[in-house]
Amino acid sequence: MRTTPSVAETKQRLERTGQQHLLTFWDSLDEARREALLESIVHLPLEHLSSMLSQAASLARPAAADIRPVRPYLRNMAEASKFRAIGDDLVKRGKVAAFIVAGGQGTRLGWRGPKGTYPATPVAGKPLFRVFAEQIMAAERAYGVRIPWFVMTSEANHHETERFFDDNRWFGRPRGDTMLFAQGMVPSVSLDGQVLLEQAWQPALNPDGHGGSLKALRQAGAIDHMQASGIEHLCYFQVDNPNVHVIDPLFLGLHVAAPDSSAEMSSKSVLKRDVTEKVGVFVKAPRLTVLEYSDAPKEIAEARDASGEIVYGEGSIAIHVIGVEFIRKLTDHPLGSVLPWHRAIKKVPFVDPITGQRTDPTEPNAIKLESFVFDALHEAESPIVLRTDRVEEFAPIKNATGEDSPSTSKAIQVERAARWLKEAGIAVPCHANGQPDCIVEISPLTARGPEDLRRMMHGKSITAGSEVLL
Ligand code: UTP
Repeated sequence: MRTTPSVAETKQRLERTGQQHLLTFWDSLDEARREALLESIVHLPLEHLSSMLSQAASLARPAAADIRPVRPYLRNMAEASKFRAIGDDLVKRGKVAAFIVAGGQGTRLGWRGPKGTYPATPVAGKPLFRVFAEQIMAAERAYGVRIPWFVMTSEANHHETERFFDDNRWFGRPRGDTMLFAQGMVPSVSLDGQVLLEQAWQPALNPDGHGGSLKALRQAGAIDHMQASGIEHLCYFQVDNPNVHVIDPLFLGLHVAAPDSSAEMSSKSVLKRDVTEKVGVFVKAPRLTVLEYSDAPKEIAEARDASGEIVYGEGSIAIHVIGVEFIRKLTDHPLGSVLPWHRAIKKVPFVDPITGQRTDPTEPNAIKLESFVFDALHEAESPIVLRTDRVEEFAPIKNATGEDSPSTSKAIQVERAARWLKEAGIAVPCHANGQPDCIVEISPLTARGPEDLRRMMHGKSITAGSEVLL
């Protein structure tokens, strides 16, 4: 068992790594806070910090001349039913688990709890975690199999998330089929590389990004657990998208059996709405990469072909299938993962080591380091992309208002429900602009797609202006 180093040992380590200021307030702290401070410092990757920062600062962006478009698979491809059957079989044989990343800070939404507790659906106001749990349960029923659910939290929201699952009785699924674990944290540092103090006894930390999920899975024992129970592929999704198809047999079938896939990692895209949409796009440079909109040269972002189509238009929607063995390979690394660090310059409140005042900066004052899960594509042997339909699978909740907010997400959820009803042969009242003149919500336990609606809606209709929960 590791014991916390003494203050003398800690001082030496801080001097060696140029972070002595972390003990500035030592003399004024009581015993409990001194212990808490020593305990936090022991976990800081101080010996690696300057190389992490310089790696992040020198992260190369591909030059426009080296960028090529990707050729995605399409949902209506000729052999879709063959690949769907392969995916179905994989799920039935218990080879698949669901994996949600829910460790983010959700600052843009500004909700009071973990984002997964946000009431997201248009009629019932179901929290996001319930939407996903019901989807998994519906798939378990349809396939007659248990589908383990891995839920990544962060230190900041772990306990609240666990309490929420507990209060909701694990959404009716056996407790042992959901595994919650927290991701790692990294220190937030000043622009000159000093670890900031959030309190006199506490360094400022931020979650290590969704890329930290691979390392966190490994460290939590989830990879060993999955491999021991025969799980080979993880369906990765984010907490902010209630329209995600958590278990998608076509996607799984292509991932394991498309002729050019190595089954290490596969991703879904949607076509960019227009050239100015702020979304990362899949490109080849020459390996498959997500080019963030802020990094895309203008001539790439705005390129159109002779027929006016956007050339680099495969927008990433953060839905992947990842091979479990591939995650083991990526995390066989002294620092826990091979993924590179990215840096963002943000405003982080801190205690001034000279005045002792806690300060809320008005200008960005700190570097936050994060890794991104899509960087794993770069390491994957022959990853593939499946283009999907935006309304069908993408209704993100990022901001409190405006674009990608709860209201735009609800509108997309209703649009999808109306589509499913129409496909099932049910008339849906519409406004002159084609938008549904009703608010419809379809529970994942009621239907996993239009086919399930056909029988149950036989002879029923939807009244204009009504709110309907199916
Ligand atoms: P976002 O990029 O939207 O970040 O995360 P965020 O922290 O949730 O929100 P903002 O930027 O503060 O408003 C995309 C997905 O990745 C997860 C989030 O929970 C979300 O599902 N994520 C992000 C993590 O799990 N850990 C992280 O460190 C960052």
